[in-house]
Amino acid sequence: MSSESEKPFHRVAAVSDVPLGSGIQVTIDDDDLALFNVGGEFFAIDDLCPHRGAPLSEGFLEQDKVFCPLHCFDFNLKTGACQVASHLSVATYTTKVENGDVFIQY
Ligand code: FES
Repeated sequence: MSSESEKPFHRVAAVSDVPLGSGIQVTIDDDDLALFNVGGEFFAIDDLCPHRGAPLSEGFLEQDKVFCPLHCFDFNLKTGACQVASHLSVATYTTKVENGDVFIQY
């Protein structure tokens, strides 16, 4: 059994690859994740919107939420919860920054 803390961190980008207030798509083990820079803090969630599959990395950021580019459902970057449709959610992942690089635990 592997616990959350045993999962490795993967370098996915340089800090400079993700401008403040934006998101990019990154890939770990063939899985697409969305990485966001909110005020210098990095958040990672699944890139695939659970509603109809749009890329959340292309969504619109507002405070600690991203709004899907297709139908504007909101997803909290810290919890993955969706307020508009409470039965939907995305996974969230731990991030860290070291020496100018961004890592995601996955
Ligand atoms: S595809 Fe994301 S809200 Fe519809």
